[in-house]
Amino acid sequence: MTKLKWWQTAVFYQIYPRSFADGNGDGIGDFPGMTDRLDYLKDLGVDAVWLSPHFPSPNWDCGYDITDYQAVAPEYGNLQDFKAFLDGLHTRGMRLILDLVLNHTSDEHPWFLESKSSRDAPKADWYVWEESPPNNWQSCFDGPAWTYVPERGQYYYHYFMKQQPDLNWHHPDVKAAMWQAVRFWLDLGVDGFRLDALGTIFEHPERPDHPVPMTLAELRHFSEIARTPAEIKRREQYWHAMFQYQWGGPGLHALMKELRAIIDEYPGDRMLIGEDDAIAYMGNGADQLQLVFNFPLMRTERLAPSQLRHNQRVRLAQLDALPERGWPCNTLGNHDSSRMLTRYGDGMHDQALARLHLTLLLTLRGTPFLYNGEEIGMSDLLIDDPARLRDTMATWYYRALVEDLKVDPAEAARRAGQMSRDKNRTPLQWSRAQNGGFCPPQVTPWLPVNPDYATGVNVADQEADPGSLLHFYRRLLRVRRTTPALIAGEYLPLHEKAIEYLAFLRQADEQTVLVALNFSPQPLALDFRDLGRTPLRVIHPAVAQAPNLARLAVEPYGAWIIEIR
Ligand code: GLC
Repeated sequence: MTKLKWWQTAVFYQIYPRSFADGNGDGIGDFPGMTDRLDYLKDLGVDAVWLSPHFPSPNWDCGYDITDYQAVAPEYGNLQDFKAFLDGLHTRGMRLILDLVLNHTSDEHPWFLESKSSRDAPKADWYVWEESPPNNWQSCFDGPAWTYVPERGQYYYHYFMKQQPDLNWHHPDVKAAMWQAVRFWLDLGVDGFRLDALGTIFEHPERPDHPVPMTLAELRHFSEIARTPAEIKRREQYWHAMFQYQWGGPGLHALMKELRAIIDEYPGDRMLIGEDDAIAYMGNGADQLQLVFNFPLMRTERLAPSQLRHNQRVRLAQLDALPERGWPCNTLGNHDSSRMLTRYGDGMHDQALARLHLTLLLTLRGTPFLYNGEEIGMSDLLIDDPARLRDTMATWYYRALVEDLKVDPAEAARRAGQMSRDKNRTPLQWSRAQNGGFCPPQVTPWLPVNPDYATGVNVADQEADPGSLLHFYRRLLRVRRTTPALIAGEYLPLHEKAIEYLAFLRQADEQTVLVALNFSPQPLALDFRDLGRTPLRVIHPAVAQAPNLARLAVEPYGAWIIEIR
């Protein structure tokens, strides 16, 4: 077996810093809070942390609008606190990757303040300026993508909200400034970066109009009320068509190569993962990004065995086709998507479904990424009071629904709460104390805590209950860590016509395991005699008796992981 890199064997855990742990009692998560919880992460059994942005920011997009790339947001602490967190991870054998937002800065970043001050300012061309909007492009968050600035009498471009102006990556000084920030963190010892929205860095050079006969708010609204297959199809087409020219423009591969070369100057296999599913961004497999996410998996509303097999067949073949074989990376949730318990739950088997999907994630081939709070089964919290929403994409949508589309305010509030990403970013629930133990009782947390903290959805209660989801996560993470075939093994699909279950082998030199996952609410009896193998050891679930491969009984939404001879 070729020696795998740390990021190939690791399980990553995403921390959303604002909501993870409040160390100083102001209702906002911070570095001292995170550092206090390092043993929790170690005990959970994860190997690396992806930290969402921790930089100073006015928080129009919750940290993804940065005003200083070489500092720590004051509400999270200072550079010393950051270093203590990083050292704490490293001394426990864990790694840290940061979020790197290249496409845009905050409109309060000194670079932008200077750029917008005058057409003659030294940084005048650091952003994308035009005399008048050259096209009908939309911001994916809040209406037109071109915003007027009276100081220059010109418009600047922003793919995201108007508080997030796009940098002009054709300007060599922009690159130099950003690479300096990259080196700053690498010098401090961080192990890599998750590249935010990298596809949006370069646009179509001719900037054609998009053909969709709707504004962004109309398209969102249409998307929500689309019911017939034809409407649903049109919805997909429109979303693609509206933004098609604002993505993936020429130049990105060269840029990624440049960044990779910087990373590679440093010892210790520093790594890059792109917030994109395009395997093309891995270059030849060794000269651009080490990983991209398997987003098609995460974006499928209901995962079914046939889709999973199709997804694996297509993606693994693409990775195998690279001159240097690419490594997969799977995730089922992050700070932008609905929580797993909510998304996969059916109201009756939520716990079993959460366990099934974790088992899937940890047994598929490739590096898994987990999102904080999934391990205790946190679910989406619908905030239907628009005044309590912090995701400005949702507050903008609320206003557009009420003012432009004349939707009833109560209905608009419900829709805004539903589409907002606040629902999956609420504070982590540490105990059954008030505020879920996230912050002191008399303090109002930055987002409401999901009240289900009082009924068992919290770390302390689940620590005490060996049957809890938290214990299940710990056990399965240990299973993965101690089962070489689950880390290094090839994926070999079995029973490819099966509708109700997914079965596959993970086969490494030293070990082969059989994985069977029941995606149905019925108990199944599966026949694996065709394998011509015998069971050696049951890895999961914890049962005393060796199973019969001729009649393997799988509980509803249950799973087996069996080492076979
Ligand atoms: C990415 C982030 C998202 C953010 C956007 C703009 O998609 O994951 O949270 O809003 O980029 O930076």
